[in-house]
Amino acid sequence: MMRTLAGKSIAISALFAAGFMAAGVMASDQTEPRNEVYKDRFKNQYASWHDTAKSEEITDVLAQDPNLVILWAGYGFAKDYNKARGHMYAVTDVRHTLRTGAPKSATDGPMPMACWSCKSPDVPRMIEEQGEDGYFSGKWSKGGAEIVNTIGCSDCHEKGSPKLRISRPFAERALDSIGRPFDEASRKDKQSMVCAQCHVEYYFEKNDAHKGWVKFPWDQGVTVENMEAYYDALQFADWTHALSKAPMLKAQHPGYETWMQGVHGKNNVSCTDCHMPRVTNDKGRKYTDHKVGNPFDRFDETCGRCHTQDKDFILAITQDRQQKVKALQLKAEKQLVQAHFEAAAAWQAGATDAEMAAVLTNIRHAQWRWDYAIASHGVAAHAPEEALRILGSAVDKAADARVQLAQILARHGVTQPVSIPDISTKAKAQTVLGMDMEKMRAEKAQFIKNVVPEWEKQAQQREAAY
Ligand code: HEC
Ligand code: HEC
Ligand code: HEC
Ligand code: HEC
Repeated sequence: MMRTLAGKSIAISALFAAGFMAAGVMASDQTEPRNEVYKDRFKNQYASWHDTAKSEEITDVLAQDPNLVILWAGYGFAKDYNKARGHMYAVTDVRHTLRTGAPKSATDGPMPMACWSCKSPDVPRMIEEQGEDGYFSGKWSKGGAEIVNTIGCSDCHEKGSPKLRISRPFAERALDSIGRPFDEASRKDKQSMVCAQCHVEYYFEKNDAHKGWVKFPWDQGVTVENMEAYYDALQFADWTHALSKAPMLKAQHPGYETWMQGVHGKNNVSCTDCHMPRVTNDKGRKYTDHKVGNPFDRFDETCGRCHTQDKDFILAITQDRQQKVKALQLKAEKQLVQAHFEAAAAWQAGATDAEMAAVLTNIRHAQWRWDYAIASHGVAAHAPEEALRILGSAVDKAADARVQLAQILARHGVTQPVSIPDISTKAKAQTVLGMDMEKMRAEKAQFIKNVVPEWEKQAQQREAAY
């Protein structure tokens, strides 16, 4: 009897599903991707969330620091890299960056679907509709007409509810793997875990079963050494460096991991305590300020809630730490830039794979550590000692590489210091690498003009049927 009933209900829902599919709609019932839907119902939260649009400034990090072009030679980040800005711009910025290229069709372009994963509540919607297999397959351009709503309510909340959720199964698995299952977590822990869906280190899997899936490399732990060992065991590389030929790792933004190492993380002061404080509206009612941004903009509700010192004093401490981290960052970069050029010179002089193996490993590890420290944005505020410790080890490993390189170069008759070309501006550094920026920019402009409006149009038609 039970069996028949169950069988019947499956048949009926299959019919419904077929009907929806015929109309082109198989909408997820767990995710409402459109943020505007909540405009009136959650006024204060919506309005403050929308205010992330005020953080609109674009800062070209490659122009500020052309070393980065050399460090990322042969990889997309050497084309274009801007500082993070408000959540409201996530979809716009991933469309505009030269790293995603100028695809002309849904099967064209340099990047995979995984590149959308931290940009939009349309990501959990698609995963719920198509499974991770469906979502992660194909090129980035395949998702253009699907992923259109910027980071919003359904990334962090259950549908139509203030209840927090982890909306991405890959983030849920990662938290499980470090013994922090979301469902069993305290309210405080959850406030940081929602950010840990995106502000973490991750990579795109290469094995056949999960090709192109996002994974956090946390199986051995969450320190920089743990993750380095994890990647080494897999012999994973994001790319081969264009100058040194080292098998490189690109760090993403391990903000959650580095926060854990700092004094606030250790005291479980959550991301929300500083970036989304509780505030009072004009009617005297409390709500969570959803304008995720610089905590010093609301000092009294953030730092000032726990610390008695005044704003100028604490700001000065933070700025001092930012300067110290920056200074060591630049020292590591100087060593790494030299090492890449010296390795290129060694290959040119006839060095063998066997001679170079140890050098390339040192370059890989040194740059991974440098990148890990600086790409975990805000690290100077979150965990300054950890940043300095990691950067110190980057300098050390780069120095080891350069001692080995000096010996190899000498063996091959190169006894003069290897000269570094003029890389004093972004454009000069890109020219040294033979990059045709004019062409990339022109293609991008065409893409923005012709392809993006088409994506928007298709998305509007799809959403009209919701
Ligand atoms: C980046 C994650 C994130 C996004 C995006 C987000 N929220 Fe929240 N939201 C939170 C957190 C964290 C809290 C505080 C939870 C707590 O107090 O434990 C919260 C609390 C709330 C609450 C409970 C009342 C309050 O103010 O504390 C409501 C309602 C709410 N959010 C609505 C929204 C709406 C509507 C959107 C989209 C416009 C949105 N949220 C987007 C993380 C997010
Ligand atoms: C769905 C992925 C996602 C989630 C969840 C998320 N972020 Fe972000 N965050 C991003 C991306 C992507 C950017 C960069 C956007 C850009 O530059 O276009 C960003 C930018 C930021 C910035 C820079 C803002 C500025 O104005 O400079 C801060 C600070 C930040 N996030 C903190 C948080 C905190 C705290 C949480 C949790 C409450 C959180 N984020 C949750 C993806 C996410
Ligand atoms: C929810 C409470 C809370 C908030 C909010 C908070 N802190 Fe703290 N802070 C702590 C605790 C707890 C410690 C550790 C104190 C101790 O061990 O004596 C600490 C320590 C510090 C220290 C000294 C320890 C160190 O070496 O880093 C500084 C500096 C600091 N906080 C800055 C800030 C700044 C800047 C902000 C706002 C952006 C902030 N805090 C927000 C709770 C908080
Ligand atoms: C104790 C307070 C505090 C806590 C807790 C905290 N942050 Fe921050 N965060 C800051 C401060 C201060 C800055 C530096 C702001 C500046 O100078 O622009 C910052 C910077 C950032 C930035 C870089 C913003 C930019 O524009 O460069 C991101 C991203 C970020 N935090 C995310 C997080 C995430 C994710 C968490 C939790 C895992 C977290 N923060 C926890 C205080 C905090």
